[in-house]
Amino acid sequence: MKKTRIIFCSDMHLCHKDWYGKSPEQRVDNLIQNLNKFYETSPYEQIIFLGDYSLDHWGTKEGGSWLHEGVCNTANFKRDYASRLKAPYYMCPGNHEQCGYEHWMEIVGTPRDDAFVLGGYLFITCDNYAGILEPTEPSDCLYSVTKVDFIRQKMEEFPELPVVLCGHYFDWNKEPPAFWELLKNEKRITLIVCGHDHRTEITDLGEKADNLCIYHDGHYSFSGDSKTPYDVMWGFTECYLTEYGIEMRYIEPENTITFKNNVLEHKFRTQNRAFFRRRDK
Ligand SMILES: [Fe+2]
Repeated sequence: MKKTRIIFCSDMHLCHKDWYGKSPEQRVDNLIQNLNKFYETSPYEQIIFLGDYSLDHWGTKEGGSWLHEGVCNTANFKRDYASRLKAPYYMCPGNHEQCGYEHWMEIVGTPRDDAFVLGGYLFITCDNYAGILEPTEPSDCLYSVTKVDFIRQKMEEFPELPVVLCGHYFDWNKEPPAFWELLKNEKRITLIVCGHDHRTEITDLGEKADNLCIYHDGHYSFSGDSKTPYDVMWGFTECYLTEYGIEMRYIEPENTITFKNNVLEHKFRTQNRAFFRRRDK
């Protein structure tokens, strides 16, 4: 198996809000430039976006830009920004993209739940926020738990391959026993990757999941609860898929922002470098 390099990225939230002194357009443009610059330095195979391109659906502002103004910033992100990426990309839905199954296909061109092979691994994308699709009232989402049957079915179709589960979020406090049984017993599942909480960190799920980990892929909007840009700045996660496991690290490109009325000259930084050994070897 050759070493394959990919990128995970999420939570850029193209919407009406400014963060850290930049307009949404400047910020998302900046993301695209940084992803392309990173590619030019050393090409990677693919970007997997893990959701929250927008605030299309939201619990406030009369339900987000889609209900309130008929504006779909997910489509705008794809048309005006992602179209300029030098690498192929794949888009998973987030909790702020509560489009129905057909509507999502129309916008993005791939299903809300999906599976594909990349770098010798089977990637299964998990849509865990399908509790209220096409809401008619303001809503932030309803967690709908991981579709264990779908994962098992895809794993049967590719019986030889190690597996990465990815999606906007995996709320382990809300998952039923079937989820834990899957993670504990299916040793081919090597890693879970998520976004949503705007953090870069590694959650070890403990004995219940035979110590399988969830890697949180950061953000490109604002740092998660109780964190500041000094802790987790705009960035994306670099991933190497190898025969023996998966290497991850969070990349924060150089950027100048304003935080609490101070100018922050953020230098290039990497965080949370870790190797996740295959459990089936
Ligand atoms: Fe989210």
